[in-house]
Amino acid sequence: MKVGVLTSGGDSPGMNACIRAIVRVGISRGQHIFGIHGGLQGLLDRHISTLEARSVANIVHRGGTILTTGRSEEFRTTEGQKKAARILREEMFDALIALGGNGTMQALHKLQQYWDGLIIGLPGTIDNDVYGTDYSIGFDTAVNNAIDAVDKIRDTAQSFDRIFLIEVMGRHSGQIALHVGIACGADVIAIPETKTDLDLIAEKIIAGKKRGKSFAFIVVAEGDEEGDAHTIAQKLSTKIGEKCRVSVLGYIQRGGNPTHHDRILATRLGAYAIECLLKGVSGVMLGMINGELTATPLEETFTKKKPIDQWLFSLVDELSI
Ligand code: F6P
Repeated sequence: MKVGVLTSGGDSPGMNACIRAIVRVGISRGQHIFGIHGGLQGLLDRHISTLEARSVANIVHRGGTILTTGRSEEFRTTEGQKKAARILREEMFDALIALGGNGTMQALHKLQQYWDGLIIGLPGTIDNDVYGTDYSIGFDTAVNNAIDAVDKIRDTAQSFDRIFLIEVMGRHSGQIALHVGIACGADVIAIPETKTDLDLIAEKIIAGKKRGKSFAFIVVAEGDEEGDAHTIAQKLSTKIGEKCRVSVLGYIQRGGNPTHHDRILATRLGAYAIECLLKGVSGVMLGMINGELTATPLEETFTKKKPIDQWLFSLVDELSI
């Protein structure tokens, strides 16, 4: 089989470990693996090269993606999707493996309409918002990156008795904010999946101060319905009568060496993608649920909303008394 592999959308730590597993397990099982550089736009521009076992040497520990990535406007159009299918046919690909988030899974679903090769999606996004897997590749590293930063901010917040809002990534999802908030002992977690009530938050912080809490910090997902951390800080400062400081962690969350968890998840999913292709599996995203490798129809991965852990979220009030 001639198998193409690409990474699309936001890069995530562990993508390289996954590419390595695809290439090496693929070659060892007699397949020909080709890298498509620059995501879906790279496919439309025919940026394709052979990947040998040595092409993926020394990358298992590196963040980012050696294939580079992107967000393609052209692929969003029907013309773009038909063109991608034509190129895959002309280049005589038998299969395509794509790593990415919701947008990538939607793109693969569209591509299925115009190309009859085997298609497999793998969840690679720090946001962990793809339905069909407990964790996506890169989430664990991003959470650990954010934890490292929040622990440092806590030191200065405590020294000055300040109120801090720390914004983490998650355009449509509070998964990073929830995990970071619980792991760092936040007083409040503001996420798009639950209603953020600023009056209640202000009351909680004022009551905490009265009980002797010297400082407070709030972890905000960038996609919260009340706005970003700067917007929320402004509103809260007025309500509390004290200036709230803001730290936006930004892209630092997306980089760095993947954690053990992400490297193993990435390796499992990459190897499993090859095994599935050899069995003729297509039109699915592979994931891991309760420790088991799984395959979910592509359409479900973006039409179904991945729920947040409501019980974990509900604990924040008790944990911060
Ligand atoms: O990778 C997902 C994500 O991290 C979102 O949480 C964030 O909003 C977005 O990427 C920003 O990425 P870019 O600026 O590269 O589009």
